[in-house]
Amino acid sequence: MTPLVVENVSKSFKQGSRSVQALASVSLRVAEGQFLAIMGASGSGKSTLLHLMAGLAPPDSGRILINDQDISHMSDRQLTLFRRQNIGLVFQAFNLIPTLSAWENVALPLMLDRKAAASLDGKVDQLLQTFNLTDRRDHRPDVMSGGEQQRVAIARALIADPAVVLADEPTGNLDSANSKSICELLRDLCAIHGKTIVMVTHEPSVAAYAQEVAVMKDGHLIDRFPTPQTSTTTDLALRYQESLKTATT
Ligand SMILES: Nc1ncnc2c1ncn2[C@@H]1O[C@H](COP(=O)(O)OP(=O)(O)O)[C@@H](O)[C@H]1O
Ligand SMILES: [Mg+2]
Repeated sequence: MTPLVVENVSKSFKQGSRSVQALASVSLRVAEGQFLAIMGASGSGKSTLLHLMAGLAPPDSGRILINDQDISHMSDRQLTLFRRQNIGLVFQAFNLIPTLSAWENVALPLMLDRKAAASLDGKVDQLLQTFNLTDRRDHRPDVMSGGEQQRVAIARALIADPAVVLADEPTGNLDSANSKSICELLRDLCAIHGKTIVMVTHEPSVAAYAQEVAVMKDGHLIDRFPTPQTSTTTDLALRYQESLKTATT
């Protein structure tokens, strides 16, 4: 099974009287256990691509397969259920429920699923422990640091053991120390736990934690390359700039 396949996906948006092509025939495949960063300037289509991969919006044309299942033509109901079981989502703004504790936020996706709720015991506490959040178990998001909130959000994304974790600028609201710890956590999830991760970022220092980089420009996927072995941010930044410069779109 392939966790994620994007085939010739296009998407346009109406902005007043004109139409903006956010994605132009994008194709992409992510293998199991792979950590891919999607880079590109603001407006290049990164978030749109991630939203479509998550089934949050349908493509105009093309197909998206998660674990070999085509999500492009699922009904809203099918998609809601499918997403809960197969896709872990992480956002820049954490998107935790403010009235729920860390434990409840992490447990929420499984609590919504009656069958899975039975297996809940222990699983949430184990994740909280893995992410160093045990002493935050009963705290609400507003008393937690940004880094802690994002760790809760990542734990929530993992609770149903999804085929793929999709993260949109997960460090965008964090200071550099918290940003580094979230990057290390994502890297370890892939390296140690074999998770499949797609992360959108415009920061070379963040993308450097991934194994591969895909570059978007004006709705096109223009390049894909392994993260430079030296893994220094400078090498990656140079390689990324080179992609943008030599793109023919
Ligand atoms: N809901 C929407 N309505 C209208 N235009 C949109 C919408 N979402 C995205 N766009 C447009 O699509 C293009 C790509 O946006 P986006 O995917 O958010 O880029 P990025 O995440 O790389 O900054 C931009 O021109 C943006 O203005
Ligand atoms: Mg974006």
